[in-house]
Amino acid sequence: MLDIKELTKVYGHFTALNKLSLHIGDGELHGFVGPNGAGKTTTMRILATLLQPTAGTAAIDGADVVKEPKKVRQLVGYMPDFFGVYDHLKSWEYLDFYARCYGFSHAQRMRMIDQLLELVNLQDKREVYVDSLSRGMKQRLCLAHALIHDPKLLILDEPASGMDPRARAEMKGILRTLKDMGKTVLISSHILPELSEMCDSLTILDHGSLVFSGTVEALSRKMRGQAAVEIRLLPQSDDSMLQSAAEQLKQFPGVTGITRGMLALLLRAGVPVMDFHRPPINLEKVFMEVTRNDG
Ligand SMILES: Nc1ncnc2c1ncn2[C@@H]1O[C@H](COP(=O)(O)OP(=O)(O)O)[C@@H](O)[C@H]1O
Ligand SMILES: [Mg+2]
Repeated sequence: MLDIKELTKVYGHFTALNKLSLHIGDGELHGFVGPNGAGKTTTMRILATLLQPTAGTAAIDGADVVKEPKKVRQLVGYMPDFFGVYDHLKSWEYLDFYARCYGFSHAQRMRMIDQLLELVNLQDKREVYVDSLSRGMKQRLCLAHALIHDPKLLILDEPASGMDPRARAEMKGILRTLKDMGKTVLISSHILPELSEMCDSLTILDHGSLVFSGTVEALSRKMRGQAAVEIRLLPQSDDSMLQSAAEQLKQFPGVTGITRGMLALLLRAGVPVMDFHRPPINLEKVFMEVTRNDG
C-alpha cells in the first residue's frame, strides 16, 4: 500500500527527514512514533502531497506522491494535527460542506453523513455546532471528514494526543473498525505505549532517521533480548552471599537466554535466591532509550 524509499526533506540547512525507507502492507494499522521534531508531520505532509520532498520517493498503491498527486489524493485521507475554526457550522453541515466539494448528490450526502457520524460515534452531536464540541469530538469529526471520499489509506497525525483514557479507547475502537473496513492506517504519536496498544506494526523515528520498523511483537522481542534479569536474594543475605552471587554470575558475561543455567548455578553455590525474573518490558522506557532526547 505504502512504499517509501530514502525519503529526505531538508529545510534550509536543516535535515528534518533523513533517507527514510518504509513499507506498509495492505490493511495494516501502522504506528509512527517519535519525539517532537522527529519528522512525523513532515513525512505525513509529503505523503498527503502537501509538501515536496527534497529527495527520495513515496508511492501509495503504486502512485508517486510527486508525479501523480491527483491520484494520490484520491487514495489518501489526511487528518492534520491542528484544527481550524468553524463558525456556525453544525457537525452535519461541516461534513456536508466537504461532501459537496466532492460533488456528491443530496441523497448520497445525507446517507453518507449519517454513516460517517455513526462510525466516529458522533450521531448524537449531529445538530451541535462544531465549535462547541470537545477536542476529542473535533478530532473524530475531522476523521469523518478524512473518510468522505472513501480513501484506501488514512494518515492520522497525532489524533490521540491529549486524549483521556476513555477517548483513547474510543479511538482504538474506531481504528479497529477502519481496519475491518479494509483501510490501511498510518497513525502518529509521540507516546509509544499509546500506539503499541492500537497498532499491528510500528516505525520509530528520531531526528529524521528510522530507529526501528516492524511488528509490535518484534519490538518487544528485540527489547526483551536486551532486558536485564532481576535477581533478588533473601533479605537476611549477608555481603558474602552477594559476593558469591556476583562471582558465579561472572561466568555469564553478557550472555542472554540461559537463565535457567544461571539460577541452577546460584542455587548450587548456596546463594539464597528469593526471586529470579525478567522484568516486563516498559515500552515508555524503551522509547526513551531508543530516542536520544526530546529535541
Ligand atoms: N517549514 C519548516 N521550516 C524549517 N524547519 C521546519 C519546518 N517544518 C518543520 N521543521 C523542523 O523539522 C523538524 C521535524 O518537524 P516535524 O515533522 O513537524 O516533526 P514531528 O511531527 O515529529 O514533531 C523539526 O525540527 C521542525 O522544527
Ligand atoms: Mg508533528
